[in-house]
Amino acid sequence: PAAVKINVRQALSFRNQRVKVPGWVHRLRVQGKDFMFIVLRDGTGILQCILADRLCHTFDAITLTLESTVMLYGVLNEVPEGKSAPGGHELIVDYWEIIAKAPGGSEAVTNKVNSESDPSVMYTQRHLVIRSDTHSATLKLRSYVLKAFRTHFDSIGYLEVTPPCLVQTMVEGGSTLFSLPYYGETAYLTQSSQLYLESCVPAMGSVYTISESYRAEKSNTRRHLSEYSHCEIEAGFIDFNDLLNIIENMICGVTDILLNDPVSAAFIKQLNPDFEAPQRPFMRMRYSDAIIWLNEHGIKREDGQDFEFGDDIPESPERLMTDTINRPIMLTHFPGPIKSFYMPKDKEDPRVTESVDLLMPNVGEIVGGSMRISNYIDMIAAFKSAGLAPENYYWYLDLSKYGAFPHGGLGLGIERFIAWIANRYTIRECCLYPRFPGRCQP
Ligand code: 4AD
Ligand code: MG
Repeated sequence: PAAVKINVRQALSFRNQRVKVPGWVHRLRVQGKDFMFIVLRDGTGILQCILADRLCHTFDAITLTLESTVMLYGVLNEVPEGKSAPGGHELIVDYWEIIAKAPGGSEAVTNKVNSESDPSVMYTQRHLVIRSDTHSATLKLRSYVLKAFRTHFDSIGYLEVTPPCLVQTMVEGGSTLFSLPYYGETAYLTQSSQLYLESCVPAMGSVYTISESYRAEKSNTRRHLSEYSHCEIEAGFIDFNDLLNIIENMICGVTDILLNDPVSAAFIKQLNPDFEAPQRPFMRMRYSDAIIWLNEHGIKREDGQDFEFGDDIPESPERLMTDTINRPIMLTHFPGPIKSFYMPKDKEDPRVTESVDLLMPNVGEIVGGSMRISNYIDMIAAFKSAGLAPENYYWYLDLSKYGAFPHGGLGLGIERFIAWIANRYTIRECCLYPRFPGRCQP
């Protein structure tokens, strides 16, 4: 009988029918001289396939290698209970052809790459490594994560914008700017689309973007990339407490969307079997209380001294605190000097700003947000004290001239969100081709 061409994802609807399935040899097991088991991978899933007798005796069968491309024909059988097969079915192959043969040895870089492999192989061979169970699941989950953020913002009426990545202003400090020649001038790769999003609010209402941001981070850590996917929002006519609620609703809303979709829920279960949705309300902790917490728990600064008010809390103590408390923490009210120029002072305590970082167990900071200075005089003063020339920001200054309005927003690192929800050790596993010092390939 004729065979319908299907992909693995469709297998359930084609049980007991004769089909043909193209794909790659993901795993291969030869049993005696009359049986071969192929686990076929086609990107949509994996399918167990059985080749028996004369089908195993051909030259192609005897020399078959992992990652070769094949077309398998046969009837899809439901697998009897007690025998486990992905999806609950297997293909009893009655005919097959080679589409392209791969050289042997690919197992060294695909299915067998794990945390014990030479770490550089993970990156030099990433174009092959991503075919493995774990890495392909992470990338597939990433697609669902991006969709979930969009679904969430759509449900609360925020519009998506796509701001430029080539810019001539910095947002988060000059030390991490990448610069490039631009028609005889200098341009930078954007660190954040925040200022542009702010300019959209009077035109479009609350907005969000998921765009690439760039940071020339000299440090080699497991949570810093030179290029990352940055989800940013900006909302008008809110106060600081509203902003904290927006963050909590976003994290819980996106998590619910992912857990309610059986496909993304299965990827989370595969990658992070112990995952539990975070409980509301999130813990809220002032920066000054975090300093006290660190000192009470004997966690010291790099120079061995106690932390003091005004110190930046580096990655490692931040992680220790988050992992010990072991639930999301919204850390608020950071001192002005360790935060960005656009953050307004708290009305009750001018030593601190209306700022927030959301810290998650295993990752640390995944969100940075704040209210924004909206008053023209304060804005000019903020540029001065940051050593920035207001002329370059004429368009941004116009926001506080032409109808200033209270507003605030946040940025979330998509890779850090994935590292949290999928329990990955490093965010380098959470994007397609990570960029970090010394790596710009593949
Ligand atoms: O805290 P950041 O620097 O804040 C901003 O850029 C604000 N302008 C955002 C805003 O209010 N619109 O960055 C925001 C988030 C961080 O919490 C972190 O999750 C992520 O972006 N991030 C990075 N992710 C990967 N690699 C890096 N080098 C990152 N730097 C920041
Ligand atoms: Mg930050």
